[in-house]
Amino acid sequence: MAARKYLILATICGLLVSVLAQEDWAAQLRDEMDPARIEKFLRILTEKPHMAGTQGGYELAEYVRRTWENQGLDSAHIDPYDVLLSYPDPDKPSYVALLDGSGNEIFRCSAGEPQLDVDPPFNMSGVVPPFGAYSPSGVVERDLVYVNYARTEDFNTLKDEGISVEGKIAIARYGKGARGRKLRRAQDRGAVGMIVYSDPKEVVGTGRGSDRMYPYGWYAPGTAVQRGHFLYGVGEGEPLTPGYPATDYAYRIDQSDSDQLPTIPVHVIGYNDAKELLRHMGGPLVPSSWKGWEGLLDIDYRLGPEMEGPASKVRLDVNVQTEVRTIHNVVGIIRGREEPDRYVILGNHRDAWTFGAVDPNSGTACLLEITRALGEMMRRGWRPRRTLMFVSWDAEEHGMHGSYEWIEEFGKIMSDRAVAYLNVDNAVRDDYTLRARATPSLKPLLKEAAKMVPWPTADDGDTLYEVWSKRSPETNATDSPPKIDLPAGASDYVPFVKRLGVPILDIAMVHRYIITYPNFPLYHTAYETFHLQKTYIDPEFKFHRLMSQLWGELALSLAESWILPIDASEYAGTVQGMYDWLVDGYGTKFEESAISLDALQSAVANFSQAAVMFEEELSSLENNTDPLVARMYNDQLMQMEQAFINPQGILYQKFSRHTILSSGLWNTETFPALGDAVRRMGSDWTDPGKEDKLKELKQELSIITFFIQSAANSLAKPATPV
Ligand SMILES: *[C@@H]1O[C@H](CO)[C@@H](O)[C@H](O)[C@H]1NC(C)=O
Ligand SMILES: *[C@@H]1O[C@H](CO)[C@@H](O)[C@H](O)[C@H]1NC(C)=O
Ligand SMILES: *[C@@H]1O[C@H](CO)[C@@H](O)[C@H](O)[C@H]1NC(C)=O
Ligand SMILES: *[C@@H]1O[C@H](CO)[C@@H](O)[C@H](O)[C@H]1NC(C)=O
Ligand SMILES: [Zn+2]
Repeated sequence: MAARKYLILATICGLLVSVLAQEDWAAQLRDEMDPARIEKFLRILTEKPHMAGTQGGYELAEYVRRTWENQGLDSAHIDPYDVLLSYPDPDKPSYVALLDGSGNEIFRCSAGEPQLDVDPPFNMSGVVPPFGAYSPSGVVERDLVYVNYARTEDFNTLKDEGISVEGKIAIARYGKGARGRKLRRAQDRGAVGMIVYSDPKEVVGTGRGSDRMYPYGWYAPGTAVQRGHFLYGVGEGEPLTPGYPATDYAYRIDQSDSDQLPTIPVHVIGYNDAKELLRHMGGPLVPSSWKGWEGLLDIDYRLGPEMEGPASKVRLDVNVQTEVRTIHNVVGIIRGREEPDRYVILGNHRDAWTFGAVDPNSGTACLLEITRALGEMMRRGWRPRRTLMFVSWDAEEHGMHGSYEWIEEFGKIMSDRAVAYLNVDNAVRDDYTLRARATPSLKPLLKEAAKMVPWPTADDGDTLYEVWSKRSPETNATDSPPKIDLPAGASDYVPFVKRLGVPILDIAMVHRYIITYPNFPLYHTAYETFHLQKTYIDPEFKFHRLMSQLWGELALSLAESWILPIDASEYAGTVQGMYDWLVDGYGTKFEESAISLDALQSAVANFSQAAVMFEEELSSLENNTDPLVARMYNDQLMQMEQAFINPQGILYQKFSRHTILSSGLWNTETFPALGDAVRRMGSDWTDPGKEDKLKELKQELSIITFFIQSAANSLAKPATPV
């Protein structure tokens, strides 16, 4: 008996010591982060362009692999895939030109950004000229129609004005939506070509940055052009191997059978060139909300399609090729001591359209500093409880191919073993506030981690958490917590959450006017240089250190904690909010159509209750040191997220499987597939022509009810599963 007591006491002491030691390691990790080293990493990473599938891209993959080996990780290897990529024809530049009545060119758009003289210099010679990736090649000579952001509502407005894009070239500005969606909408409405440009309203900001355009500041000059891919992209991954990894033995569908690839040519330009096109457009004036910054361009925006003399037509001459080439994900591993088969994954893409000093290599520099620091700690005897994996993805810019193919190859293992995926794409776009996205269950962890990270300048607070809460509050209340979005948007966390149901988070340091500049102004231009980062964004790399500290803190919490820091109640709160939104907006419609929401309400309540009971059990485990018991509860926490995965996919998106966190085709604040079904009903649910849509709605209601109840079941006492 005494011996047993002693044993328990010793175990408790051991636990205490290990808890203390853990805190110590976390502090060591924070202190180890060194801005000067991060700067050096970024300098090396941004020396040359490194687009996916190029020599520069491969060299950098090898650099990351070697660095991880030298830093002392247990292993580092490359996982290659053969994917469909897209490049401009080196011998035939794409361009846009204005033609006069006899077909003579009176203006031709620039071939790319001019070299600028900055310190340290950058070398334009390997930079890919601006192009729309995956555009088909082709030449069209037609009139222009201005389509604003090319959203559905924009095309509806045009229709009301009696203007059609059929047989025309559409010109759209960047912003408010993905490139591929803009192009698909124009294509579906009969446009024969498209031009997308950066309006100064989005890349300078009316009145804010006109005296601080690169190389004199952070804003975009009229010569800068945003590159990017135009795949339709509803979570399919690489276009030729939908659903399966693009291995060397993979069956590849014909390009003409892919529903991802555009069929009309598209080109991208900056606002100096756009000005010349817009200036020559006739037709009615645009609605006032459709105007960009007319003051800077000195034009009035018109809808077209007539051209004003001497211009008579626009020529779009696009020469872009697709090609299957090899891409290289690099995977580094630190094996866990107690639970080597549980993975905490840190990921960032490595490929960039040009130099990538912000997107994505500010993140890569932080990742390499974290692995360096962990390597140091391993030399001092540290090893995590769970396995840490570090992944440097390739071909994110072409459509997240590196992460999608990897998830397609290792998805089964990852659903069973991945505890969480922590993504950083652009680590530092600016120094104002943190922008975060997370699955609901990781929000509390993110807030706690931010409390441990010191804010590096004398400012609104001492910790990242304080400054972040003040600058990005969730509500207007004085003590509001910071705002954390649900996973939307596009980076390598998407396949983890939407395919597998692995908890994710995604963090970045960003600028103040995030609405005005949906990205940062020089995003995907040739001017995303080391000079930009060093001179205008983070000269002392303090914010890179902050991001490394936050990312490292999160990784360590997930890899070391006895019970995983995954929060079931927070999840239940989010699901409840989605339910409330639906009832507030559409409750009466459901009632009028005699569709009961009782079962859904019951499932939502059951999930909340299961979360509360689960957490009560966890707190009663406080002194339990049996690793099998901990493992049992941890497995339940992992299964909770996966319970939301519908193997059949959600409505009209068979590869997007998360019934709560997939993005609906309409971005509503409720369950994505049910939200889409509701939107399809329109305003009159009683219209007999809507019977099929009503059936679909009823089916979606039962599907979401089932998956929420499944999540509730996943939290039930293991010995009494149902
Ligand atoms: C720029 O790069 C090209 C090709 O890599 C090289 O030939 C040239 O010497 C470089 N120019 C400078 C100024 O370094
Ligand atoms: C905050 O206050 C503004 C203006 O009073 C209001 O428009 C907005 O909806 C409020 N936001 C929240 C999250 O309460
Ligand atoms: C919620 O739980 C109750 C009690 O276990 C059960 O009777 C009910 O069927 C559950 N709701 C759903 C939608 O499964
Ligand atoms: C855990 O052990 C401590 C110290 O013996 C005790 O005070 C506490 O009540 C225990 N907690 C639980 C939930 O049993
Ligand atoms: Zn990126």
